[in-house]
Amino acid sequence: MKKNTILAVLMAMTAMTAQAQTYLDPNAPLEERVKDALSRMTTHEKVQILHAQSKFTSAGVPRLGIRQLNMDDGPHGVREELEWNTWNPAKWTNDYIVAFPSLTCLASTWNTEMSTAYGNAVSEEFAFRGKDIMLGPGVNIQRTPLNGRAFEYMGEDPFLAGEMVVPYIKAAQANGIACCLKHFVLNDQETDRFGVNVNVSDRAMREIYLRPFQKAVEKAHVYTIMGSYNKWKGVHCCHNDELLNGILKKEWNWDGALVSDWGGATNTLEAATGGLDIEMGTYTDGKTKESEFGYEMYHLGNPFEQLLKEGKVPMSVLDEKASRVLRTIFRTSMNPKKVIGNQCSEAHYDVCRQIGEEGIVMLKNEKNILPLDPSKWTKYHNVLVVGENATRSLTQGGGSSELKTLRDISPLDAFKKKYEQMVDYAQGYYSGRAMYDFVDKIDEAKQAELKAQALEAAKGADLIIFIGGLNKNTRQDCENGDRESYDLPYGQNELISELAKIQKNIVVVTFGGNPYSMPWLKEVAAVVHCWYLGSEAGTALVNVLSGEVCPSGKLPVTFAEKYEDYPYVQYGKEAYPGVNKEVYYKEGIFVGYRHFSSNNVKPLFPFGFGLSYTKFAYGKPTTTVEGDNIVVQTTITNTGKVAGKEIAQVYVSAPKSNVERPVKELKGFGKTKLLQPGESETLRITIPVDELNYWDETKNGWARIMGPYTLNVGASVEDIRGKVEVDN
Ligand code: BGC
Repeated sequence: MKKNTILAVLMAMTAMTAQAQTYLDPNAPLEERVKDALSRMTTHEKVQILHAQSKFTSAGVPRLGIRQLNMDDGPHGVREELEWNTWNPAKWTNDYIVAFPSLTCLASTWNTEMSTAYGNAVSEEFAFRGKDIMLGPGVNIQRTPLNGRAFEYMGEDPFLAGEMVVPYIKAAQANGIACCLKHFVLNDQETDRFGVNVNVSDRAMREIYLRPFQKAVEKAHVYTIMGSYNKWKGVHCCHNDELLNGILKKEWNWDGALVSDWGGATNTLEAATGGLDIEMGTYTDGKTKESEFGYEMYHLGNPFEQLLKEGKVPMSVLDEKASRVLRTIFRTSMNPKKVIGNQCSEAHYDVCRQIGEEGIVMLKNEKNILPLDPSKWTKYHNVLVVGENATRSLTQGGGSSELKTLRDISPLDAFKKKYEQMVDYAQGYYSGRAMYDFVDKIDEAKQAELKAQALEAAKGADLIIFIGGLNKNTRQDCENGDRESYDLPYGQNELISELAKIQKNIVVVTFGGNPYSMPWLKEVAAVVHCWYLGSEAGTALVNVLSGEVCPSGKLPVTFAEKYEDYPYVQYGKEAYPGVNKEVYYKEGIFVGYRHFSSNNVKPLFPFGFGLSYTKFAYGKPTTTVEGDNIVVQTTITNTGKVAGKEIAQVYVSAPKSNVERPVKELKGFGKTKLLQPGESETLRITIPVDELNYWDETKNGWARIMGPYTLNVGASVEDIRGKVEVDN
């Protein structure tokens, strides 16, 4: 062969090799990798990557060196390893992790830096455990305080949830871990979650329920989203054409992969054409029955392939789905920039503790009983801690978010560590364990005995710290069932009242993802709500109670005085939990504080409320329009005696018009750094002008009423410190 010919052959071979490597070339543009990979796959291989091959993985293409996707719950840490085909624990010994605080707690920090820290730390644990997709976070709206999974979400306000979730997703995905945002959409109750059909106005759908998801798509570019079990317009949201193909993929231009909730795909044709990309958990009833069918029998397995063969669904649908899955693979499991991560590092415990400290909300503090002052304690053992949640692990229970932790520090352990022999403990009540259908029967005699012991111990105490609340038992903040009552369970209301009769110096500390009634509020000196705090629960709580950390969390939900005050309750069962699996969101856009402030219903504690050990003065707000943004500036000064952080909130009031609007809507917020006494900081809060829009049902699009708008700057929705007008 001539030299030239040899050269030509060599060049052609190199070109072929280069071409052969495009999909494997991490430096090649993503879409070229996807296209190249797709061109090499058979129809069967394309179908194979669209469904589960085990409880928590979906297949890659081994022949081509295309990796599978490893998924796991989510959202507060990496779930323990389960067996390949069942919900049983795999009993590994290297899958102990850090439990981070519940997402409701993260929302209570109102601190986007905490979201970044959370997303970064938790995704590092996912990476180290060899995962690619983290099943979480969740941004369903806390429409009812009975929602069993509210603790996994970010409160009642779409703006707060959206702003807080974006940095979390960005940080996690920068580590090469895809977030799988849950549960798209309207999964706002657990009662009948598998089949309830949600009837909601287009306006409420757009302004309230879709909003945080839309932000996560547009601002954080979330890689995967989990469809919800429930229906919208009569079709399950895991394969709802209008929702997934129409709104999510076309209108929002989303290029990610839609993952079904486990067992959420129920119909082959809909699964094929309704926008689902990865089908998981089918042929289980969600939690209890094991997979009885081969994975190839999934809707997006052989049945889908058959539809393609028969020409009932075009090949382009297959290619589109497979492209979305390949994109996800290249962004995660085959992303050379994916971090190795780490597990149970001290840095992760620090993040866990800090988020907990900033998310704890102090609701009442009479006569400054807090921070605790040990110099007032006269003798040993005169601080009495009462309540099961002082010792119970709250990282367990709750459903799929349950975690197997390496170490947890309980409130009682932390109290003892800090105050040593000053502290005594009485359990006061017990709840047993309860998960799904299994519920421990409460032994009334034992309950009475525990109560009597606590009341007896209270007689010798100078200070009582009651630590109770909800506990992730079934119907007490747990998946697959809502709470049955707005009251605290297990006789806690009576116990608190009776303890308070014996000792007025009583601090009530509660855990829980939801608001609850407080008939004893006037009888107790202080109330502190902790959500769920994860592995560092005790340390975070004691740091706040002792004053080492000044509380700065504020409520992401309204605490109503009584259940009947929540907006939907007046409309009866049709509005919640639904009748014959049809639920009507009759309150429309008036969810949470939008209802309380517009209809003059006085809450027990308003949205955005939280006390501090110090006080803050707000300077007169000013505003400027900069391009497409309104910038509000307000100077916050710490006028008290200890260092603290303040959260300033901006609520927009629209001008009067014939469009119904809530009196106030959150459209901006900012948190100061730790301000020393006397120190000031000017917060610059940027509000995109588009945030003033409302959904115009007559035009099926966003619209804006001409201003002037009033911007109310305040410490909560009910505590407005300054107002300023702006024209749009
Ligand atoms: C839950 C999801 C969870 C999945 C896998 C479902 O029942 O709704 O949130 O990710 O199970 O455990």
